[in-house]
Amino acid sequence: MTQALPYARIIGSGSFLPPRCVSNDELAADLASRNIETSDQWIFERTGIRQRYLAERGVKTSALATEAARLALADAQVDASEVDLIILATSTPDFVFPSTACLVQANLGNKGAAAFDVQAVCSGFVYALTTAEAFIRAGRARCALVIGAEVFSSILDWNDRGTCVLFGDGAGAVVVKASAEPGILSAELHADGSQMGILSAAGNVAYGAVTGDPFLRMDGQAVFKQAVTVLDRSAREVVAQAGLQLSEVDWFIPHQANSRILTFLARKLEIPLEKVVMTVDQHANTSAASIPLALDVARRDGRIQTGQLVLLQGVGGGFTWGSVLVKM
Ligand SMILES: CC(C)(COP(=O)(O)OP(=O)(O)OC[C@H]1O[C@@H](n2cnc3c(N)ncnc32)[C@H](O)[C@@H]1OP(=O)(O)O)[C@@H](O)C(=O)NCCC(=O)NCCS
Repeated sequence: MTQALPYARIIGSGSFLPPRCVSNDELAADLASRNIETSDQWIFERTGIRQRYLAERGVKTSALATEAARLALADAQVDASEVDLIILATSTPDFVFPSTACLVQANLGNKGAAAFDVQAVCSGFVYALTTAEAFIRAGRARCALVIGAEVFSSILDWNDRGTCVLFGDGAGAVVVKASAEPGILSAELHADGSQMGILSAAGNVAYGAVTGDPFLRMDGQAVFKQAVTVLDRSAREVVAQAGLQLSEVDWFIPHQANSRILTFLARKLEIPLEKVVMTVDQHANTSAASIPLALDVARRDGRIQTGQLVLLQGVGGGFTWGSVLVKM
């Protein structure tokens, strides 16, 4: 056990998208060839999505996660050998086991760090970041790699136009280090398992076969209503926990599921839209990867600066949700 420093700070980020970018028009043409009707207009008006990146068949979550992790380590100027904790959030792990975190560890050449996956669907990254912060503040880790990575295209029913147009693949990662200066200021996580039915992929591998339904299923309207309700409450709670006001938040990065959810939420919270980082148009919903992807984009294009306050919010299957307030 190492000596505890009082805070955990994000000191670097990285992200990675598979090379194949598929526009709404291309997706609509592909679906039309199978007599499934959709359009750029329907998708964009309902969700704000213009395109998504899709991994080629056979490309696994660990491959995307490793690339994002390498970029985050380089950005933080941390060698992989310094990392003593790897937490990877995903709902599309490479295997039943070992965990995808262990596969990334091996790819990075790290030996000895604790490594495990977190399963909280689209809230996975805020769950993983909160867990890493708790390890660091308890003195059980000094340098953590926190990753959100998905090949969500592998669990989509490409005959269901109500869901297959909404998601994409990708990975994002941050390096979190013990620090004498404040970094992660407050966090809160929640779940309501009684709502499992509104968003699930209720299948499993058992007795040598897939049992249940291997595809994602969603009651879109129920998810929409639930998401805006819980995220509104959670944002207020996490900011109050830090003794701050919502008006002091510099950047708001909610899970990138749907621009209508994001704008509705920002209005409820009276956060100006200029402060909302929006990548859902470019990436679609990449589940656990969406928040670190958006964070990395906004750091690299110069919007998010050191010292600024960033509010991260996840929401998704479980039903799960949570918020983390970060001083960069
Ligand atoms: C999914 C979502 C965009 C659907 O929008 P909606 O306005 O609720 O649409 P509905 O599901 O009621 O469907 C309306 C119509 O569009 C049709 N439709 C569904 N998907 C379509 C598509 N891709 N293209 C064209 N039409 C489509 C439906 O069949 C339905 O047709 P009908 O009226 O003839 O039956 C919306 O509910 C949503 O954004 N929910 C939140 C989802 C989310 O963010 N999930 C992730 C959270 S982690």
